[in-house]
Amino acid sequence: MDNNTRLQYLEAMGIDVWVSKQKAQNEELQSFYEEKVVIDTNSNDKTKSLEDKWSLLQKEVAECVKCTLCNTREQTVFGSGNKNADWMFIGEAPGQNEDVEGKPFLGQVGDLLTEMIRSVGLERDSVYIANILKCKVPNNKKPKVEEIKSCQNYLHQQIQLIQPKIILAVGRIAAQTLLGTNQPLSELRGVTHQFAGIIPLVVIYHPAYLLRSLLEKKKVWQDLQLAIKQVEK
Ligand code: URA
Repeated sequence: MDNNTRLQYLEAMGIDVWVSKQKAQNEELQSFYEEKVVIDTNSNDKTKSLEDKWSLLQKEVAECVKCTLCNTREQTVFGSGNKNADWMFIGEAPGQNEDVEGKPFLGQVGDLLTEMIRSVGLERDSVYIANILKCKVPNNKKPKVEEIKSCQNYLHQQIQLIQPKIILAVGRIAAQTLLGTNQPLSELRGVTHQFAGIIPLVVIYHPAYLLRSLLEKKKVWQDLQLAIKQVEK
């Protein structure tokens, strides 16, 4: 069957809409990736204390109505941990438990992330944990480009305030968003990247994936070792 005939069949089945939507989403994602991220570590706004900046940001996030996820959330999940951390872990989006409790990475997935943090000799409270999105995506769907775009400035401000020595991108969505690429995670892990050209970033498998694929645990261990080396440089 030639491509045109195949497309006609798909159209007759109503699948053309999905195909063009997917294409449009990919194009939108690509142009989003091409936007340059600027993190100004020398920001000289000395008019506000660091604590004021954190409080203002947290309030802004809590009241955010920039995308439709505000209609389905119980509350925003800002992030948690040490605001002076050397290590910053960034996941995808809060799930159901996190939406109820207001904290990132809870339950079994959170326990495994805590175990991963401990494996590098750190406590969960000594690192900072945040997500690409501050709101739950209903039914655990993949975040949409417009949702990521609406939220990205909040995360960039968090990174700018913390100025971590290393960012751990937890899972594919976090890795692709932070690095501005749609390369698969298997190609992104195992090397040190730079976020916004200045902060070392290592990609690790998401604990939710590891719970299903225990054999990949070894690779996370290797990636965490890579991060340790980077911090100790
Ligand atoms: N919980 C989070 O806070 N983030 C994830 O990516 C997954 C679960």
